[in-house]
Amino acid sequence: METKRLYLCESREKSINEAAEILKGGGVVAIPTETVYGLAASALDQKAINSVFAAKGRPQDNPLIVHIDSIEMLNKIAKDVPESAYRCAERFWPGPLTMVLPSSGYVCKAVSAGLSTVAVRMPEDKTARDIITAAKLPLAAPSANISGSPSPTTALHVLNDLDGKIDAVVMGDDCKVGVESTVISVSENSARLLRPGAVTVEMLKEVFDSVIIDKAILSEPERGERVASPGMKYKHYAPKTALYLVEGDSESFCSFVNGQGVAAVCFSEERDKIKGEAFVYGVESDPDTMAQRIFSILRELDLKNIKKAYVHAPEKSGVGLAVYNRLIRACAFNVVKL
Ligand code: TXA
Ligand code: MG
Repeated sequence: METKRLYLCESREKSINEAAEILKGGGVVAIPTETVYGLAASALDQKAINSVFAAKGRPQDNPLIVHIDSIEMLNKIAKDVPESAYRCAERFWPGPLTMVLPSSGYVCKAVSAGLSTVAVRMPEDKTARDIITAAKLPLAAPSANISGSPSPTTALHVLNDLDGKIDAVVMGDDCKVGVESTVISVSENSARLLRPGAVTVEMLKEVFDSVIIDKAILSEPERGERVASPGMKYKHYAPKTALYLVEGDSESFCSFVNGQGVAAVCFSEERDKIKGEAFVYGVESDPDTMAQRIFSILRELDLKNIKKAYVHAPEKSGVGLAVYNRLIRACAFNVVKL
């Protein structure tokens, strides 16, 4: 099939309406969001959802996030919503937070992959919300990449993975956050963090008495182990390059990499100290910059045909926890502690 490019610069409204029409007709459209590009389809249309799973090559047991533009839509999709979830919505929506709530059965079963819950988020990106509003539909949208590969943070990344496999791509800006939304399951007074993102543990503690960090965030689930968020059990975000996550201070990282003579994925402060090839993925003191660039850098390693690289691990706090969580999966849990 031919994948249509829907540009926003000259004809924003026309492109948004065209995207909405394709979605209403059961098509699949990649759309920008503030986190990563999403592969959107009507959450009410079983066939459209099947097309999303097929285009991505996504395992059938990995549920999708439903994107909404209003609390009315939330109330249709979820039931028994605890007060704390509304407080969260008030504080963090629209924004990069996804809440797992009991499903009302309104969205089709394949979206939840057989679970009794549904994951919901209201994106901050104006284009994403305008498309939901124009389509008058809740949109299921996983990241718009081939399953397992690094998530797409530019329209070009989407085309590299899915050109010819989906109906259209909305050619928006590069994503400003760069890592996928924070995913939590919610009860009256506590939240369980299933996937870290730009809404940090520290921020969640402003709303909940306690925030439990699921153990699958930083460690590899045992074979066959039941995980709270099915996405956690898959190898993820991985380029073809063999990657190793290296924990240690800047000086030890640089001398370790220089001793090995392989490429480094490092912080800007370290670039001049690395003798071989260096890929800068952020500023050490500013994890937001790492989140923005990490998936682009992982894709660049493949474009440059790098066989092996060592990645300097960020601190596991704030947004750094989200970056660490993606990197440890991209590195298939291979960690070197210096
Ligand atoms: O930022 C994001 O969330 C992006 C953009 C497009 O919005 N979307 C995204 O979707 O990252 P995806 O499919 O790549 O990741 C969804 C994650 C998976 O780890 C999945 O297992 C989890 O959310 N998830 C979805 N529904 C769930 C549910 N009912 N219970 C537990 N985990 C769920
Ligand atoms: Mg994904």
